[in-house]
Amino acid sequence: MRHFSHGEEFELAFARHQTTHPFAHFAVYPEDICVRPILSSSRTGDVVLDPFSGTGTTGVVAKRLGRNFIGIDIKPEYLEIAKKRISEVKEPLEGSELVSLH
Ligand SMILES: C[S@@+](CC[C@H](N)C(=O)[O-])C[C@H]1O[C@@H](n2cnc3c(N)ncnc32)[C@H](O)[C@@H]1O
Repeated sequence: MRHFSHGEEFELAFARHQTTHPFAHFAVYPEDICVRPILSSSRTGDVVLDPFSGTGTTGVVAKRLGRNFIGIDIKPEYLEIAKKRISEVKEPLEGSELVSLH
């Protein structure tokens, strides 16, 4: 498997950004951007806090990685979108799926 530099990873994440959710607001970041910080700073079952959560990208990834999530945003309409997006994540990733994310 090819290894990418951090710069290349960032570019790839933005290239994949085209597939983001249809309600994206002006500054949604790619889901891939949250994976490494969440995996390196928390364990399964921990709580991830995003005080500027917007439409909930951090929450979507946190749930997929088996974390709980608290999102705060000044705009209630963004929080409604975040709740819907997070509720649509059905299963956390497990085992070999997680290994492929490292
Ligand atoms: C860069 S966006 C976050 C985008 C988010 N990652 C997403 O997936 O949609 C920053 C967010 O901070 C929110 N915000 C700005 N000022 C705030 C404040 N004082 N308190 C809470 N949220 C605030 C904005 O409404 C905006 O949604």
